Amino acid sequence: MSSKRKFLVVTGTPGTGKSAASKLLAAELRWMHIDLGKLASRKRLFKGYDRKRGVPVADLGKIKSEVLRAARRADRTVILDGSYSHLVLPKSLVIAAVVLRCSPNGLARRLRRKGWGERKIRENVQSEILGVCESEAMNVYGKVCEIDTTGKGAREVCREIVSMLRKGSPATGSFDWLTQVSDRTLLRWMA
Ligand SMILES: Nc1ncnc2c1ncn2[C@@H]1O[C@H](COP(=O)(O)OP(=O)(O)O)[C@@H](O)[C@H]1O
Ligand SMILES: [Mg+2]
Repeated sequence: MSSKRKFLVVTGTPGTGKSAASKLLAAELRWMHIDLGKLASRKRLFKGYDRKRGVPVADLGKIKSEVLRAARRADRTVILDGSYSHLVLPKSLVIAAVVLRCSPNGLARRLRRKGWGERKIRENVQSEILGVCESEAMNVYGKVCEIDTTGKGAREVCREIVSMLRKGSPATGSFDWLTQVSDRTLLRWMA
């Protein structure tokens, strides 16, 4: 690749709409879209199994090599879509990091529609309330662009990402569900 900064990181709790928005974004900008969850499953890029959570553990080193190889071959800007996409590449290779957010009840509704079980839904809603992806991404990149997807369609989310990229500076809308949702909602999920 000619220039170094060639990756857009799209991260967020599962169900925030990363893949839906990334697909539209890739079509609109003619960028390459890599869904890390799918890539890891297809190429078996795991380093073990988390028995407690019932999920395989992604091997971030192998994923990084695979992503760099794919990007070199494609010679296009790459959208890295995944709930750990902010942990794969160093800041020097990344144009911007977008963190998609969704209100706790809205996220639970989406995950229920996807057929997820209550335990997994609770775990992910808690992670969204605590802002785990956002704080991890902030640690890596120093600044992130947060987009609230609650009540928005993927097309609108895609438009907001394009607008952020055109402006050149990630507007950091700051989301803290701990201060934005009712105590009843928090108690329901965090109890
Ligand atoms: N902006 C949105 N608003 C409402 N529902 C959405 C939105 N984006 C995606 N969805 C739906 O929510 C679910 C999760 O979306 P997906 O893109 O798979 O999320 P992720 O990749 O972050 O896990 C899907 O069923 C999808 O159709
Ligand atoms: Mg996805």
